[in-house]
Amino acid sequence: MSYGLLKGKKGIIFGALDENSIAWKVAEKAHAEGASLILTNAPVALRMGKIKELAEKTGAPLVPADATSIDDLNKLFDTAEAEFGKIDFVLHSIGMSPNVRKGRPYTDLNYDWLHKTYDISAISFHKVMQVLYNRDLMNEWGSILALTYIAAQRAFPEYNDMAEAKALLESFARSFGYHFGKKAKVRVNTISQSPTPTTAGTGVSGFDKMLTYGEMMSPLGNATAEDCADYCVAMFSDLTRRVTMQNLYNDGGFSSVGIAPELLEAL
Ligand SMILES: NC(=O)c1ccc[n+]([C@@H]2O[C@H](COP(=O)([O-])OP(=O)(O)OC[C@H]3O[C@@H](n4cnc5c(N)ncnc54)[C@H](O)[C@@H]3O)[C@@H](O)[C@H]2O)c1
Repeated sequence: MSYGLLKGKKGIIFGALDENSIAWKVAEKAHAEGASLILTNAPVALRMGKIKELAEKTGAPLVPADATSIDDLNKLFDTAEAEFGKIDFVLHSIGMSPNVRKGRPYTDLNYDWLHKTYDISAISFHKVMQVLYNRDLMNEWGSILALTYIAAQRAFPEYNDMAEAKALLESFARSFGYHFGKKAKVRVNTISQSPTPTTAGTGVSGFDKMLTYGEMMSPLGNATAEDCADYCVAMFSDLTRRVTMQNLYNDGGFSSVGIAPELLEAL
């Protein structure tokens, strides 16, 4: 069902790789709600992923950008400015840890890779916002979102150094949200999503069990990628104009449950 919530709005979506990606679902729903989009991902993802299909489906220009590169971001926003003028919403849906990918334990981190984890998964969010802010490219009452995970608040040992990356990401949302709110009435939030079967998600060791555990612990069950897309659309719409600097849980209630009887029974 579509409500025209984003009619006339213009947005940039980072991080759609394939049809399982959360960003993919957000692009589909935002398009269905009437938004005009620009899609972007790292050059390698444009070569390997299926994002061209999504670009065709949503009528969106596709612009390669490594989100850690200020040059790439400036080029991306040049295209956005030429296409749209100012922008109403941005989704940062980017995560990658070389330590996770290469199976390095948290207690024996490679620190060069740790820097990469931070740069790709968190500092890129600051870079995106800093370029938008300094170029004054966001419309008033615009909305900027990034996706995060509850390992920023609680220990999930298998999440490895992504836990610190998410803590940093959430902090950037709060801190930049202040400046963006004062300057341009732009809101900045993070959505903390249930485990979701995507390329990034399934890269975390023990992912299937985390999914089952989340399902048992959440009274409403795990939030799906589609649920996350619905929430993002709501956060991009004019119905949430004074929600800012928040970490918003989209997790079926997981974050507020101590123990679930089903889990005790299973033990
Ligand atoms: N899947 C989950 O369980 C889950 C749960 C909570 C939060 N998240 C977060 O959701 C976001 C999206 O991940 P997903 O689960 O849809 O997986 P995904 O693998 O589909 O998306 C991750 C994206 O990051 C992109 N990326 C990596 N390096 C980049 C770079 N240098 N520049 C630009 N883009 C780059 C990848 O190309 C990919 O499109 C991530 O921030 C992830 O941490 C995922």
